Parts: sequence; C-alpha cells; structure tokens
Amino acid sequence: MSDPAPIFRVHPPGEPFIIAAAARIAEIAAQAVRARGRFSLALSGGSTPGAIYRHLARHAREQIEWPATHVWWGDERCVPHDHKDSNTRAAREALLDHVPIPAANVHLVPTHLAPDACAAEYERELRAFDRRTPLDLTLLGLGADGHTASLFPGGTALAERDQWVVHTAAPPASPVRDRVSFTLPLIGSSRRAVFLVTGAEKRDVVRRVLAARAGDPLLPASLVRARDPVEWLVDSGAAPDEHAA
Ligand code: 6PG
Repeated sequence: MSDPAPIFRVHPPGEPFIIAAAARIAEIAAQAVRARGRFSLALSGGSTPGAIYRHLARHAREQIEWPATHVWWGDERCVPHDHKDSNTRAAREALLDHVPIPAANVHLVPTHLAPDACAAEYERELRAFDRRTPLDLTLLGLGADGHTASLFPGGTALAERDQWVVHTAAPPASPVRDRVSFTLPLIGSSRRAVFLVTGAEKRDVVRRVLAARAGDPLLPASLVRARDPVEWLVDSGAAPDEHAA
C-alpha cells in the first residue's frame, strides 16, 4: 500500500506564513491536550522557525496549554546550550523563556555528554516518556541538500531502524559537525510531522523531495513519514510551480 500523499499548504511570505504556521501548531496542540491531556512537541532547528517561535510566544501564548506541553528537539548541535549555534539557545530566546512551560517539561538534549552518550541518554528519556508515541508533533526544516533534522544525504543514520536518537556528522561546511538527531523511526512514530520551509532558494529542493515519492536516501526529507500524512507548510517562495497557491 503506497504512503498517503503529503498535505501541502502554501502561504504568502512573511507574516501570513508565520501566522498560519503558528496557528497549525496551536491547533495540533489543542487536539493533543483534548485527546490525551498533554502536547508533546519536537522543535526543529535552523533559522526558519525562529519567527514562528517568537509569534507563538507573543501572540499564541494563551492558545497553547504550556503547563501541559512537553518540548523536545528533533536535532541538536553538540555544543553547550548557550553556544551561538545551539538550537536550544535559539528556542529559549525566541519561545521557551517567554511562556509558562514547566522546566521539567523542557527536555534538553544532554550535550554536555559525548555525542554517542548524549544520543543514548536522550533516547532513554524519550522511551521513558512514552515507549510507543512520544511525540504529537515533530517540526522539521529542510536543508538545500535535502537534509532534515540532522539526517544528511547518504548518511548511515538513514538506515537505522531501531534506535530513536543517533550521533550524526554534518557536512564539513556546516557550523557544527557533531550532531544528535531523531532517526526516521522516531519521526515516523510521531502522530504528525510538519515541514516548515520558506524562501525561493528552497523551491528546487522542495520540488525534488516531493517528486521522490518512494523516498531517496540522497534526499533524506523524502524518507520522512508519520502516523498521519506528512504536512508541508511553505511560503510562496518555496512552493514549486505545480504547488503554487
Ligand atoms: C539544524 C536543523 C536543520 C534545519 C535545516 C534548515 O539544526 O540546522 O534542524 O535540519 O532545519 O538545515 O535550516 P534553515 O531553516 O536555517 O534553512
């Protein structure tokens, strides 16, 4: 049976995209809390989601039940949490320092540990939280090379079928090479996976990823599945012509 087609939504760039992405996250959060009394969210890194996180903190503060929310990171650079390239630092500054989420609900990646031990410890925490479906929503970005989280083209992590979190190596040109990342099985166990992509520079890779319906290890994002159909929230700059609004 073929995988369900992804859900693809396009919004004008800037505020309209940010508002729509924040609204979708809040909608999924409300559904999760209604159904299970909690919302478990994996944040994506990189630069794209920052404006969305800031919008959630400023304008969607009341729309998400932060005391019932748990936050994880889909990938993290193996640096201290106050490092300029830390996804934790970026999420704290944009969102987590500005909403009433209990500190115990912010599941920091233990980057003080060596990368392999860090990945193993994070996986232990995820499995202790929920051994089947720890995530209601995994947010994902898309690199120009087709990577997502810290799963890079042709990487051995793409073949991982059992572990949930692994140590990966970003390409030499990356800001930080040592990473820990969710694996495809963990992302796949999420109730929902939502890609957030903006900018004309991503249009071609979005087109190539969507065309690779069977999944291509040279385009890791094309291998992503979730329990519900994968969702793409893109701005009009990143939308291929055949998906233009
Ligand atoms: C990271 C990310 C990575 C990111 C993409 C897109 O830690 O870098 O998780 O997967 O989402 O590289 O990054 P931009 O949003 O900066 O284009």
